[in-house]
Amino acid sequence: MANTILVGAQWGDEGKGKIIDVLTEQADVVVRTQGGNNAGHTVFIGKQKYVLHLVPSGILRKRKLCVVGNGVVIDPVSLVAEIDGLRQFGVKCEGNLFISETAHLVFPYHRELDAQREILKGKNKIGTTKRGIGPAYGDKAARTGARMIDLINPPRFEEVLRNKIKENNEILKAFGAKPLSFKKVHAAYRAAGDRLKPFVVNTVVLLHEAVRQQKDILFEGAQGTFLDLDHGTYPFVTSSNTTAGGACTGSGVPPHRMDRVVGVMKAYTTRVGEGPLPTESAEIADMLHAMGREFGATTGRARRCGWFDAVATRQATMVNGIDELAITNVDGLDTLEVIKACVGYRIGTRRYDYVPNDIELLSKCQPIYAEFPGWRRPTHDTRHWKELPARARAYLKAIAELTGARLAIASVGPAREQTIFL
Ligand code: GDP
Ligand code: IMO
Ligand code: MG
Repeated sequence: MANTILVGAQWGDEGKGKIIDVLTEQADVVVRTQGGNNAGHTVFIGKQKYVLHLVPSGILRKRKLCVVGNGVVIDPVSLVAEIDGLRQFGVKCEGNLFISETAHLVFPYHRELDAQREILKGKNKIGTTKRGIGPAYGDKAARTGARMIDLINPPRFEEVLRNKIKENNEILKAFGAKPLSFKKVHAAYRAAGDRLKPFVVNTVVLLHEAVRQQKDILFEGAQGTFLDLDHGTYPFVTSSNTTAGGACTGSGVPPHRMDRVVGVMKAYTTRVGEGPLPTESAEIADMLHAMGREFGATTGRARRCGWFDAVATRQATMVNGIDELAITNVDGLDTLEVIKACVGYRIGTRRYDYVPNDIELLSKCQPIYAEFPGWRRPTHDTRHWKELPARARAYLKAIAELTGARLAIASVGPAREQTIFL
């Protein structure tokens, strides 16, 4: 399969988990390289639903090496809960999961600060997952963070945590929030540290050994291109590089070892949280929500929905270098008479063929739509490209062409089998 970076080409929740699970069959190693437990990657195996937050989705297949790379931020208590939850379903992490020594830690004060800053922002809030992601990456950039390597060194961790709690309690008090008890946090984190210690290794060395042995590595992106800290709709973004470059910095595997980039996108658009979404449409949102679809895997929030936005996905191809596309949730459009896809933006008489960086301009952008006739037939039982309705094939080919990459996978349902390879 070669070394593959998989990224979300929209605003997250594109169906990366499902596609990762499908592609893992041919991979030896699956690596998370950025984000934290703000991610929620859904995988169905038979009727069983799994939602993965920090553990790579590759864990659901046996004998695949799973790595949480240096670029990820880890809430250790939540990671232990995830590992225990997986064990209840017979999924064993011991021996298959490796966690970077240098991944940064998320602490309860990060979560609290995340929540307090959102309250302070009022109507301008980002709509974060409140998992403490922004403050944790903030500490990393400010060089005031703590890492896994500190967590598993008890005397060092005690000293580091004591100072951190002291400093952050002052900030929490200024927000009018309750200060944290060092004792409680210390006890919880030390217990998690003891549990996680056997998983913690130098993942850069581990991954380079895999590269040397010509193993196939799959880099599991979290979030999506327009949530990228540099390339997204700032400030309505997450705090990591969700685009392809993040796979290198977040793993220590260099760019020239990467062979291809797969972009995952829905056949329409969704976004959870605040910020501009040019093709947002109540019509499509009502339809999908009535079908019980498009509720967040991490927070349960109803996702905002809209028509497919090719201006955005074209830009995703540009910044990620997407070679191949996996288009998911094709079946979500099965009942529509007319399907729209945005081919450009307009503000007054000015046309934009790219996503403007100025958030105010982007908020004013009106989509220019191309219309496609709907196929109005269920697609969820389709397993081969030729069996898809001709109108569905035409729509998928058109949006792939507008996006500027080769259509490689079409997904017609959440299950592994509901996958069409081209
Ligand atoms: P991720 O964060 O990119 O992994 O995506 P999420 O798991 O948060 O959200 C994607 C949702 O779409 C999940 O509920 C998946 O089970 C579901 N899904 C993925 N592909 C398909 C598909 O082709 N059809 C349908 N009906 N559901 C899909
Ligand atoms: P996966 O990997 C969709 C969004 C939040 C919010 C913004 C910032 O499942 O695709 P954060 O908590 O990261 O500071 O929130 O980013 N967000 C996601 N939206 N899918 C995700 O992950 C997301 N992770 C964060 O809703 O708008
Ligand atoms: Mg998700």
